[in-house]
Amino acid sequence: MIMEEIYEITDAPKIIVAIDGYSSSGKSTMARELAKRVGYIYIDSGAMYRAVTLYAMRNGMINPDGSVNVEALIPKLSDIYVDFEPVAHEDGVQHTLLNGEDVEKEIRSLEVSNHVSPIAVIPEVRERMVAIQQEFGREKGIVMDGRDIGTTVFPDAELKVFVVAGLHERARRRWRELTQKGLDIRFEEVYENVAERDRIDTTREVSPLTKAEDAYELDNGAITHEEQMEWLMRLFQQTIEKLENEG
Ligand code: CDP
Repeated sequence: MIMEEIYEITDAPKIIVAIDGYSSSGKSTMARELAKRVGYIYIDSGAMYRAVTLYAMRNGMINPDGSVNVEALIPKLSDIYVDFEPVAHEDGVQHTLLNGEDVEKEIRSLEVSNHVSPIAVIPEVRERMVAIQQEFGREKGIVMDGRDIGTTVFPDAELKVFVVAGLHERARRRWRELTQKGLDIRFEEVYENVAERDRIDTTREVSPLTKAEDAYELDNGAITHEEQMEWLMRLFQQTIEKLENEG
């Protein structure tokens, strides 16, 4: 019997799974697959910061030197709503919607990647995104990935995972992903972007990327996707069993 069926028929308690980690560490793939297997909702919180970045780019809120025109962006935040399509596309991904428009393809561009971390340091942006994310998690049964999910968005999440892998390996994965999509891009450019985002994400003042004390760490640099999924499924099952025994 597949996992999805088990969780649907057993009335197992629903939990929140928080998966945080560095850029291109493979956390989105892991989170998406877990959600699919257990019949949970998957939310890609990074896509939300990317959508806000696209909004700022489209509305001339990025200065020529690459800095963000914060004064222009903040008053507009209440007009920005980021959501996801209820069902996955043929590509298996639930597309991201910016005020109702499908922006999935645009938010994955290197240009958005280059501007997203400076946008994500703005406290008001984080406040707005965290509020939307917490709303998504109100009924549990959710897997969310990002940088601050286990620390700030859902500090009480029943299962927290922190994913790490070496910078070079992560840049290689992202470069492969982008070139497979048909982008003509140099490895060095991708490497620099990933390194710079690591730097900004770990040193910002509000909710920097950091492992929650009670998170399980996974270094997925040298393991296969299947091994990684087995590890995660085991943790998920253990967490559910523990809750069932307690309650
Ligand atoms: O897919 P990738 O690992 O490149 O990054 P992402 O998850 O799409 O996130 C893009 C950027 O959004 C990150 O580099 C962070 O600057 C920011 N982010 C954040 O600050 N907090 C989150 N919960 C998720 C993403």
